[in-house]
Amino acid sequence: MQPVDEKILILDFGSQTTQLIARRVREARVYCEIHPCTMDLERIRAFNPKGIILSGGPASVYEPGAPQVAPEIFSLGVPVLGICYGMQLITHLLGGKVARGTKREYGPAKLEVLKPVGIFEGLGGMGPLKVWMSHGDRIEELPPGFEVLARTSNSPVAAMAELSRGIYGVQFHPEVAHTPQGQQMLAGFVLGVCGCSPSWTMHNFVEATVARLRQELKDARVICALSGGVDSSVVAALLNRAIGDRLVAIFVDNGLLRQGEVEEVSKVFRESLKVNLVVVDAAQRFLTRLRGVTDPEQKRKIIGHTFIEVFEEEAAKLGKVDYLAQGTLYPDVIESVSYRGPAAKIKTHHNVGGLPERMRLKLVEPLKELFKDECREVGRQLGLPETIVSRQPFPGPGLAIRILGEVTPERLARLRAADAIVQEEVRSAGLYTKLWQSFAVLVPVKTVGVMGDERTYEEVVAVRAVESTDAMTADWARLPYALMERISSRIINEVAGVNRVVYDISSKPPATIEWE
Ligand code: XMP
Repeated sequence: MQPVDEKILILDFGSQTTQLIARRVREARVYCEIHPCTMDLERIRAFNPKGIILSGGPASVYEPGAPQVAPEIFSLGVPVLGICYGMQLITHLLGGKVARGTKREYGPAKLEVLKPVGIFEGLGGMGPLKVWMSHGDRIEELPPGFEVLARTSNSPVAAMAELSRGIYGVQFHPEVAHTPQGQQMLAGFVLGVCGCSPSWTMHNFVEATVARLRQELKDARVICALSGGVDSSVVAALLNRAIGDRLVAIFVDNGLLRQGEVEEVSKVFRESLKVNLVVVDAAQRFLTRLRGVTDPEQKRKIIGHTFIEVFEEEAAKLGKVDYLAQGTLYPDVIESVSYRGPAAKIKTHHNVGGLPERMRLKLVEPLKELFKDECREVGRQLGLPETIVSRQPFPGPGLAIRILGEVTPERLARLRAADAIVQEEVRSAGLYTKLWQSFAVLVPVKTVGVMGDERTYEEVVAVRAVESTDAMTADWARLPYALMERISSRIINEVAGVNRVVYDISSKPPATIEWE
């Protein structure tokens, strides 16, 4: 896993925003990886970074057990930038003094740049810069050889550096959106101070990865499960580019997909991309097994097991297969290696796991280094249409977990029609890509209504639309009333069996995005 020559190493001390540092560095078109601060010197050397960033973290440097880093990193001859805790650690290790701040500084502050060099190159003479502070400790005495580059009213040493060795420390968080010039500062570090070239582009990624896959997979045959979601679609397109027909993509129609989805996916992959695609119509098998089942966990289990069964049957028909390709992204990787460890994981992974072990296949995960937005960009480079590349997430168990109560063909048709209206209206309001997810839920509650002169007694559709950046937390979207009105009246008029539409105004936590 060494996709480029010039790399920045981010050592994680447990900050909530470490991933953001990585994303900002990538936005500056420089490749970086996050590793736990416990990474040993040998591995750091082997990684061969052009620069090292020490993240923030919740600890205090003098606390017993506070995370450390090998002091030799300062003698590797590469620049180091410490952010918040990272800066305090630099101070502590290089002979300065850190003191417990009398009051915690948290929130916006005005940064006065005293010396516009290095990470502040080009940021002089702009007046005070807005920055985001979050720390309890502060630098009381600079390490020998360091100078102050910037201050705030509360922090006389808000930024410091030893310019000759390129060692920088900032007390604030340049990676967060609340520090508007933060991107420029981080770019200044990786491009200016470390001297990286801005060559991490998705075009280059595709070229390099295709070449690498061709070499690694020589004559191997690869299968992948295509769901129609962004990640699996990009994996299929990338492998198709690399090894053509030796990739077989298997798309299982479980009967729980959205309106037009099977047709769209078949068309894009078969006709436009010429992917070797097998579409399995297993709708009947899934629906038969779901008959009479109302418990959400039970539904998930049945769907998961049936999926594995169908996938294995199809794979067996193909004869010898060597690899299974999966759309694992970088955030999944970070989650399992981060300093806080898996304990901090909030969301349990809902996807069908265990496939590669069961099938004794080797794994190929070509997107393992990418963030979601980079993955989408790779999809565009490979010619995937925007309808797939910018698709909102859709759960593996499909509409089954949005049909509360029993999944019957009739109720499926009802939800599918209602959901298609939500999609259509949200898209035409121009909100589809601004929302994390927007969809309909069928609620097994009948309410009384009146249509013409007739009393009706029909089901309720709930509309759910949320804003989020990672699905860990989500806020219900404040949709325009006019849009809600159109969605509601169209569902009630066009979908038989529904006479009431409600809007879900719960956030996550304590609610979840999906209803089941
Ligand atoms: P919740 O409902 O836990 O969902 O707030 C968080 C995100 O995960 C998606 N989700 C799933 N995705 N298989 C998936 O691939 C699943 O079983 C599953 N359940 C929930 C959900 O749509 C949201 O984006």
